[in-house]
Amino acid sequence: MRAFHDKTIMITGGAGFIGSAVVRYLVGDARCRIVNVDKLTYAGNLDSIAEARGRDNHHFEQVDIGDQDALTRLFEKYRPDIVMHLAAESHVDRSIHGPADFIATNIVGTYTLLEAARRYWQDLSEHERDRFRLQHESTDEVYGDLQADEPAFTEATAYAPSSPYSASKASSDHLVRAWHRTYGLPVLITNCSNNYGPCQFPEKLIPLMILNALENRKLPVYGSGDNVRDWLYVEDHAKALCTIAAHGKVGRTYNIGGRSERTNLDVVQSLCGLLDRLSPRPSGSYATLIEFVSDRPGHDKRYAIDDTRLSSELGWAPEETFESGLEKTVRWYLDNETWVNRVRSGEYREWLAVNYDQRSATE
Ligand code: NAD
Ligand code: DAU
Repeated sequence: MRAFHDKTIMITGGAGFIGSAVVRYLVGDARCRIVNVDKLTYAGNLDSIAEARGRDNHHFEQVDIGDQDALTRLFEKYRPDIVMHLAAESHVDRSIHGPADFIATNIVGTYTLLEAARRYWQDLSEHERDRFRLQHESTDEVYGDLQADEPAFTEATAYAPSSPYSASKASSDHLVRAWHRTYGLPVLITNCSNNYGPCQFPEKLIPLMILNALENRKLPVYGSGDNVRDWLYVEDHAKALCTIAAHGKVGRTYNIGGRSERTNLDVVQSLCGLLDRLSPRPSGSYATLIEFVSDRPGHDKRYAIDDTRLSSELGWAPEETFESGLEKTVRWYLDNETWVNRVRSGEYREWLAVNYDQRSATE
């Protein structure tokens, strides 16, 4: 990324699923300096950034974004040109079982980061202030949901979040916009659809289904499986985030999507088909493990992204199709047994019990 040469990029949440993909994408260029700020919650994983940690241009700091003093120290120590803010509590089902961490990290943590960034930015020289950017990573879920025949979300769609998670993300977006309008902090906001790919914690649909299938467990599809999501391969997302940080217009929001709307049942059936081919099950197709279970409360029906602004202004387009990305993803989980075994800790087993034991089968 030439635009980042000789720059310092602070990435919050850089040990998570998407953050680690951004780190892996940027760190290979020795002329970018990466400061990776992550609290290492259950979702943070040093194994996902193992290669980066061996490089001189990657600096890992285990810090909570709610800790103002620690953040101030990091801004002074590293003097970043760009902050890419990805640290968050990110799982809708967990937000339903326990919203407190979502309020603390997504809202208060983002506020704390904005204040630390503002104080640092205000004291920069005029030239440094002009080139500073804080890019906040949000989600398409802030727009609420769509019926089958409604047009896709644009950047002008009104906010209507449904879950504690999406409400906390919407709140943080409002804070970021306010810090731009009131204080002039140079921000960018991105709203992305569902990601999938290597290193995703197996609480989310795609890795959960892959690992359950390989363990011969049921594949729990919420409701009737007709909810629709738009799927983006995580490495395409990492490239989009870097393109926006480098060339996006300050104060703007950019929607990022995968142009791949699928029902959940389609996704699970595609995964079963891939696994049948790549790791056949002696007792028959993995699809026989599919089980319809009671629905997620407040379950959004459909998300769809209109990415016209990003593609026409900045020339970005996803490189993977859903089919090519899904095959890469299944192969990755099959080939990375050590990563997989290490995340299936006691805490993960407890989560499976909390979320699934009381979900009754519906058919
Ligand atoms: P993730 O849950 O995999 O990773 C989150 C990371 O943030 C973890 O490494 C965790 O340790 C860290 N973190 C959590 N709380 C922290 C705190 N208080 N201080 C510092 N670090 C903390 O999440 P993800 O899927 O990689 O999502 C990254 C961002 O992208 C989030 O803001 C999420 O809302 C957004 N997003 C995700 C998706 C998706 O499909 N996964 C889609 C659109 C937007
Ligand atoms: O749209 C972007 C969002 O995508 C991100 O902001 C979130 O951080 C990310 O977690 C994701 O949210 P979803 O709720 O869409 O993702 P999840 O993988 O949890 O679920 C995808 C769909 O699959 C959703 O309709 C619920 C359904 N589902 C999920 C699980 C875990 C099932 O049917 N069964 C399951 O066991």
